[in-house]
Amino acid sequence: MHICKAKNYQELSRKAANFIAAQVILKPASVLGLATGSSPIGTYEHLVKMYENGDLDFSQVTTVNLDEYKGLSGSDRQSYRYFMNTHLFHKININYSNTYVPDGTEQDAEKACSAYNEQLHKVGPADIQILGLGHDGHIGFNEPSDHFEDETHCVDLTETTIQANKRFFESEADVPRQAYTMGIGTIMRCKKILLVVSGSDKAQILKKVVQGPVTSQVPGSILQFHPDCTIIADEAALSEMD
Ligand code: F6R
Repeated sequence: MHICKAKNYQELSRKAANFIAAQVILKPASVLGLATGSSPIGTYEHLVKMYENGDLDFSQVTTVNLDEYKGLSGSDRQSYRYFMNTHLFHKININYSNTYVPDGTEQDAEKACSAYNEQLHKVGPADIQILGLGHDGHIGFNEPSDHFEDETHCVDLTETTIQANKRFFESEADVPRQAYTMGIGTIMRCKKILLVVSGSDKAQILKKVVQGPVTSQVPGSILQFHPDCTIIADEAALSEMD
């Protein structure tokens, strides 16, 4: 694991955007694996600025997102499709039909997951997969469990995750209890991983991910076994590290 230290969230976001920009410049038809949540918002803002300045061209890029809430459609403001549209896709010159997010409106979990897996197989392993880190160590929505799941599956969100994500909803009761998520196997088959972590509230879990044993009880710890994993974290997130 390569750890790249940033002073704060702003610097982290600049560094992460430069990392992704280099990928797109070197390979214009890159497949980018994307995440939602607070961690990558600054990164996406910088990518949009680079596009506006004429420094980045997304016309040949394909994207695959990690996850989507079961039951939400792209027009729901809390859906991950809506998040991606507003933070990135509608602000850059990406071909919208090359952006993939699991279909939250599909109630049949088996159908939704196998359709997304089929899509992921077609597109191939992402050149870079961007990840955030949950307080319980989840990546994507792969929550702590007694085993690692290989491909896209439907998960029951943990209480920790529901509590962390309720800030985006009107009330806790509105937070969906299930989500479709890319599996750990798919994430591990990506060519490069970029994990972005910010804030002192993530310091303890980041230490476990990097310095603890590899275990499905801390799903992010599997990244220790990825051959090309970069972590960009700010000083607050790195404050518990030995
Ligand atoms: C989002 C995702 C989640 C988040 C994680 C951290 O697509 O897959 O794993 O990356 O919950 O969320 P934030 O960045 O909001 O702390």
